[in-house]
Amino acid sequence: MPLRATVSRSQFRADCVTRRIIFHNASQVVTCTGPARGRRGAEMADASTRRNVAIAVDGARIASVGAPDDIERAYPGAERVDCAGRVVTPGLVDSHTHAIFGRPRYDEQELRAAGAGYMEIAEQGGGIHSSVRDLRARSEDDLLALARTRLPRLARYGATTIEIKSGYGLSVDDELKSLRVIARLQAETPLRLVPTWLGGHEIPREFRERANGRQKYIDQLIHEQLPRVVTERLATFADVFCEPGVFTLKETRTILAAARSKGLMLKLHADELEPCGGAELAAELGAISADHLAAISPAGIGALAQSGTVATLLPGTMLFLGRTRQAPARELISAGAVVALATDFNPGTSPTPNLPLIMTLGVSQLHMSVAEVVLATTVNAAAALGLAESTGQIAPGFSADLALWDCEDVREIPYWYGDARCAASWCRGESVYLA
Ligand code: NIG
Ligand code: FE
Repeated sequence: MPLRATVSRSQFRADCVTRRIIFHNASQVVTCTGPARGRRGAEMADASTRRNVAIAVDGARIASVGAPDDIERAYPGAERVDCAGRVVTPGLVDSHTHAIFGRPRYDEQELRAAGAGYMEIAEQGGGIHSSVRDLRARSEDDLLALARTRLPRLARYGATTIEIKSGYGLSVDDELKSLRVIARLQAETPLRLVPTWLGGHEIPREFRERANGRQKYIDQLIHEQLPRVVTERLATFADVFCEPGVFTLKETRTILAAARSKGLMLKLHADELEPCGGAELAAELGAISADHLAAISPAGIGALAQSGTVATLLPGTMLFLGRTRQAPARELISAGAVVALATDFNPGTSPTPNLPLIMTLGVSQLHMSVAEVVLATTVNAAAALGLAESTGQIAPGFSADLALWDCEDVREIPYWYGDARCAASWCRGESVYLA
């Protein structure tokens, strides 16, 4: 069954194998062109906004960007998409989501409003534990059906590449079940999905209650979950929630070192609520990204700036949790770190699929410029997934991942906050969303 509001992969392949398309009549094409890697510091100041250019797509790739007359001459007979005076950007990259979950957790929002803390709710069996109980009771098909309703919501806001984590299973069978749902989704959608194993999201309740249970769960992660995830090729990344009360720095290092030795690339939930050296650990391990960072220390900022690890900031999470402290984006950018933004779409702390809204928070709460938030959701978010060589830019040779916006000026994307301004998107030249 195709995803709602998307074209199914098989339907499309049949009639469009060598498809050429010219995108013309855009008011602005925000190309994000430059080095095919995460951008740092002053490199984030310019997203390369061009006027009076057309884009030629040949199959899955961008073929050319240039003067409309030249493009029309070079690609006779191509299909044409009239951008009608609107803005084109690279398809957005949402590099941090937990989109495989069952029941939403709207009950917790009023507990927090009444003063309960996120960790306090978790200690009483709510939070991640409540999503774990729920997910374990569901079949793979049930989870797939739910995810099918959620992916189009993310796509509707312009994302064409979406990272998705497991992490609400916390047992061999339930983590594999979650990752298989992602694999099955990928087989039916033209969106680019990137799977992450997050068995280290929490110590499950049944292990917390056992003598030496923490160590026993870590043993299960390393000796049972990880080998199956790797053998069945179900994940590109391993991630751990490194936070006081969840996994310690030492435990995180052990789990991630094991994952790296099995060939997975690394991510960390680091310094989200309390500083604990997570950013420094991410840099030390050569992780591809350290995510959250609202409580990062000055030493952590320095460590990320000196490393290739992308600082992925998730301002929607702090907003939804009602916390006033946001990640120090300006300090990170000034120090020379590569900064990305993502939704953290999940049932507990950030139930928004709206990446442009996160761009708004990037501007209004993190004091980033529009060019910075655009690069943070394209090139730098691609770098947070190890994909900066192939996606995130509108430049020859890059994947034809494009988003068309109902805006005349790119600054409108974060300006109309909360609005769904994405009119259409394409991934690898295939239509993924049409408003
Ligand atoms: O990224 N911080 C840990 N994990 C998620 C929240 C998970 C949940 O509460 O369900 C996050 O915020
Ligand atoms: Fe997260």
